[in-house]
Amino acid sequence: AGFTTLDMSTYEENELITEKWRGKPIFVLKKTAAMVASQTDAQKERDVVVDGMHFMLAIGLCTHLGCIPAYKGEKDGFLCACHGGQFDWAGAVTKVPPPRGFDIPPFKIDGNKLVLG
Ligand code: FES
Repeated sequence: AGFTTLDMSTYEENELITEKWRGKPIFVLKKTAAMVASQTDAQKERDVVVDGMHFMLAIGLCTHLGCIPAYKGEKDGFLCACHGGQFDWAGAVTKVPPPRGFDIPPFKIDGNKLVLG
């Protein structure tokens, strides 16, 4: 119970999909080749690779007070309307008040599937 399996071969590049896991929104963003090539070391640390595909995977709640940020595209990343916090497309915080980047849910990789929980 409590596990959610995602088929990672079904996602489109740079299209944010919000899945659900244990009542929480889970952000899945498949990175483009250009995003992957430009990743900083900090962004690489958060990178989730499944079957050669690169993803941003995160609990889709602002780490400030828990609002759900909106994805505004590669340039602007995620904007939290509650108090103006921002995150880049890799999930790192770029504008306070959020104290840290998005939290990453526990997961396991099984072929081209990702199992949350
Ligand atoms: Fe997102 Fe406050 S809840 S900035």
